[in-house]
Amino acid sequence: MTRAAKGRKLKIALSTGGGDAPGLNAVIRAATKTAWHLGWEVWGIQEGFEGLIDPRRKLVRIDPRDISGILNQGGTILGTANRGNPFKYQVQTAKGPKEVDLSAVVVRNFKKLGFDALIAIGGEGTLGLCYQLAKKGIPIVGVPKTIDNDLQGTDVTFGFDTAVSVATEAIDRLHSTAQSHRRVMVVELMGRYAGWIALNAGVSGGADVILLPEIPFDIEAVCDKIRDRERRQKHFSIVVAAEGALPRGGARVLMEGATTDHVERLGGIAEWLGREIPKRTGKETRSLVLGHLQRGGQPTTFDRLLATRLGSAAVRLVAEGKFNRMVALRTPRIVSIPLTQAIKRLKTVPLDHDTITSARAMGISFGD
Ligand code: F6P
Repeated sequence: MTRAAKGRKLKIALSTGGGDAPGLNAVIRAATKTAWHLGWEVWGIQEGFEGLIDPRRKLVRIDPRDISGILNQGGTILGTANRGNPFKYQVQTAKGPKEVDLSAVVVRNFKKLGFDALIAIGGEGTLGLCYQLAKKGIPIVGVPKTIDNDLQGTDVTFGFDTAVSVATEAIDRLHSTAQSHRRVMVVELMGRYAGWIALNAGVSGGADVILLPEIPFDIEAVCDKIRDRERRQKHFSIVVAAEGALPRGGARVLMEGATTDHVERLGGIAEWLGREIPKRTGKETRSLVLGHLQRGGQPTTFDRLLATRLGSAAVRLVAEGKFNRMVALRTPRIVSIPLTQAIKRLKTVPLDHDTITSARAMGISFGD
């Protein structure tokens, strides 16, 4: 029998790590409400794992007023960070920055504070750290989060639907200006090494060319599509490029400087296309990067509901004493899988995905 089943009131901690995603607050709210119904105490670890490194500054008890009205709010009331890996924590020394392993501090603080479980809401990076911390003795339940939808083991992650909706609306808006000016508009979308956002928004928004990290493109094939449209009196074209898209035989375009945790920062492919396309086709071209607009603001109904279901299910998993697992959507059910299954590799778009097949059948070019 689990400790909860014996009627013991648990003290649990919640954390949100990595890039924010619409729906994080809905998870926090659902998990907290479910825990309160069981008579438990809920604490928030602020800014990823910072609250377990420095509890005096970054650990807060969650009270009813904290979660009131947050269901439809973007971001996270706990704050988040895509730095602060406790295994490679950056500290400043007289000789400059240095990385130290503070994982033992995290485990010690977790135990000293009397927590029974940690519910960690994060993407592949955060859940990878959770797996390492679980091995060191922290009972963890993971909740999958990322706008990129690149986590294995769950049909979809919350945040993705919102990002796709924002991107689709942007593509809709680009159509009218592209058409009026007879231009090519190139829009760069997020997603890191997976093309899910670009594929879904590109098809939903009626893009003419969609460039994905999974399908290295030939710039001449992209230009051929634009020329072909021109011949058919379609004097404008919309090119959707995932930030991780790369030319065949070429390299990904990166922004200068990685994050402090050495995570590559992708970006710049739209600008590159915006230079190459007019050179090769003579068509006036403009490019834009949709960027963090895809992550900000209210979650869609789909994301709110999914986030709520996952948050509540995570607490029920703690109540059952099942740890080192991640809650996941296997439509129509919420299930749980071992953390290892979620982090073993990224979920990229399979080349035989039906959406790609349908897009190709309709004449959308993937630049290959
Ligand atoms: O993983 C989510 C994501 O938005 C990616 O799509 C993007 O590459 C990255 O985070 C951007 O990170 P940052 O917020 O550090 O610029």
